[in-house]
Amino acid sequence: MREILPDTAREVSGRLEIGGLPAGELADRYGTPLVVLDRATFEARARAYGKALGADHVFYAGKALCCVAICELLAELGLGLDVCTGGELETATAAGFPTENIVFHGNNKSSAELQQAKDFAVGRIVVDSLDELDRIEAIGATSDLLLRVTPGVEAHTHEFVQTGQEDSKFGFGLEGGVAMDALKRALQLKACNVVGIHVHIGSQIFEMSAFDLAVKRLATFLARARDELDFTAAELNLGGGLGIAHNEDEMTPDPVGSWDRIRAAVEREFKANGLEVPELFAEPGRSIVGSAAVTLYRVGTIKKIPGVRTYVSVDGGMSDNIRPALYGARYEAFLAERMDAPKGPRVTLSGKHCESGDVLIHDVHLPADTAVGDLVCIPATGAYTFSMASNYNRVPRPAVVMVWNGEAIEIVERETDYDLLRLDRRLDGSSLT
Ligand code: LLP
Repeated sequence: MREILPDTAREVSGRLEIGGLPAGELADRYGTPLVVLDRATFEARARAYGKALGADHVFYAGKALCCVAICELLAELGLGLDVCTGGELETATAAGFPTENIVFHGNNKSSAELQQAKDFAVGRIVVDSLDELDRIEAIGATSDLLLRVTPGVEAHTHEFVQTGQEDSKFGFGLEGGVAMDALKRALQLKACNVVGIHVHIGSQIFEMSAFDLAVKRLATFLARARDELDFTAAELNLGGGLGIAHNEDEMTPDPVGSWDRIRAAVEREFKANGLEVPELFAEPGRSIVGSAAVTLYRVGTIKKIPGVRTYVSVDGGMSDNIRPALYGARYEAFLAERMDAPKGPRVTLSGKHCESGDVLIHDVHLPADTAVGDLVCIPATGAYTFSMASNYNRVPRPAVVMVWNGEAIEIVERETDYDLLRLDRRLDGSSLT
């Protein structure tokens, strides 16, 4: 359990504490479902990446969890930020994040978003399509550019989060000269410098060999780009993707070791092709924030179907964590105030939404006497849970509380019924207030 909990998690007389605060107290104070984010863990993971690559060569992937306080913290830590929409960019600028340390992604950036990038003087844009190049030219954007390449490798992960294969909506394929033609076109832009190449092969990856193959193909491509276009990549951004453990069967790869291995592959392949070794950049999301947070829920109903199964239903579900339903993600759970209780038979931990697919964990061993009102903790829920949350069934999204040295700060407030109704209009178009 240790590895999937935040670094500061402790068991005190059977009760979970994070950041020096009892989980039960946090649940009472802020309600449930509640995302509890441990600042110390976030900082430690961010610093590990900083050690591996240099803090200014690490662009935290905002899509994993993005809010103003996180952007402020990243700025304090000296990390860069990867945004992929105008909304993430707005969040960063609202936080006063230094825009020169932002890299702007997206396979369909609108003209308005590219204009935003220009107005905010975003440091780098990762170009994903020829249409985007046209828009960049029309707007007169001046950011440095990286060309996103799909190297034709399949990362061993869920197909929804594979992105490096030829058949992908992202980037320019190496096959058939597509990427070379795009690079040629990008180099003709007067207002922008093409500083390098970007590759992101997928997410929740444990098997590093896909990175090796991607690097090999990139080196071959860049040797041709040098010969045909006289192009040298000063920067190589290899995206994010390192997996984390969500349950006790998995092992979290060490970012420093993994990136040492990637760096060695880059040096080997680039030197073998007579290329200068470019500066290396990464965009980790999940491996920084994933294990920094847990989600707390209250048990509301327990349904025992004799000889079939027991459903333990909590006060959240697929609206705050869609990952089990969408990707078959497997999490762990335990009772946050009875950690020392012996585990009972398997139950299904379900949510409160109106569909049978609303299951958080199919088989989990909670204590046999789990009761209504118990506090359930699901670890390793910092990444792609809150950021993918919805208002399905008109359920308000949870609060996010950051804990640190015995203090808690609500960095995102819980939504209210007012928030749910704020944009609704009556049949005649009038507002409700
Ligand atoms: N860079 C780019 C260009 C990306 O598309 C992504 C993730 C990352 C970096 C960060 O990857 P990470 O280090 O977090 O694996 N919703 C899915 C994950 C989608 C990932 C999308 N792109 C999930 O819940 O598993």
